Amino acid sequence: MNKRLLAVVKLGGSLITDKTKPFTLRKHVIRQIAEELATAYEDARLLVVHGGGSFGHPVAAKYAIKEGHDGSKRKLEGFSQTRYWMTVLNLKVVEELAQRGLPAVPFQTSAFTYTVNKELREYWIKPLAKALKLGLVPVVYGDAVLDDKLGFTILSGDLLAAQLAVELNANTLVYAVDVEGIMDKDPRHSPNAKLIKELPINEALKIAGNASGVDVTGGMAYKIQCAAKALTAKIRVVIGSGTIPGNILAMIKNKPGTYTTLKI
Ligand code: IPE
Repeated sequence: MNKRLLAVVKLGGSLITDKTKPFTLRKHVIRQIAEELATAYEDARLLVVHGGGSFGHPVAAKYAIKEGHDGSKRKLEGFSQTRYWMTVLNLKVVEELAQRGLPAVPFQTSAFTYTVNKELREYWIKPLAKALKLGLVPVVYGDAVLDDKLGFTILSGDLLAAQLAVELNANTLVYAVDVEGIMDKDPRHSPNAKLIKELPINEALKIAGNASGVDVTGGMAYKIQCAAKALTAKIRVVIGSGTIPGNILAMIKNKPGTYTTLKI
């Protein structure tokens, strides 16, 4: 079990939820992803990280949770609400994975992480490492977390995925998103935009645009900044479509597909 390659797979919130409708899952997408992860699990260890999408972002934005605590009861309610809805989403994801036979286990992010001024400085990695060694599939997520300076803040799944990939010596970090990957032009304005198959990280940072809808943790540019941390630790990093059938499996297994491979 512990000899298998480790893939950290971040499922973007816009991929697994409908960002235009609050608290709405894209069930057909999650089901297909779960099937591919079940196939990947046959010869890889998997750590799944998911985003907040329409469960996390609207609530976090309403109460400005990322900016921290201001001492008011309203803010505490906002923290509680964000934590609640992220737990709901996490359980739905875990349920879909479990239904496809994966031994998926929810790991509640704010219980094993601690940030200092929005930076992820402390985390307790041992239980996650042990779970992976046993063959479990931990499912963690971007979340409202406790912060040493701000009281609390939002920790994005993008950053969490990259730091955990480094800490756990992952072989591959996959960012599965609702676009094809990094395009040479903004596909929302240029219908002839083409997917870039391989891209040096510095160029990627220049090209990246912004995510659609309410996103309190930043879009593609932020994902690429996080990817840079993993790249310097020699982890293979890919960003690509989570909706095209077979593509998540292709990204994990390093087979041809619809995605961008980031290079140092
Ligand atoms: C944000 O996590 C979590 C909350 C807003 C509570 P992410 O930043 O990873 O979420 P997505 O992928 O952009 O939706």
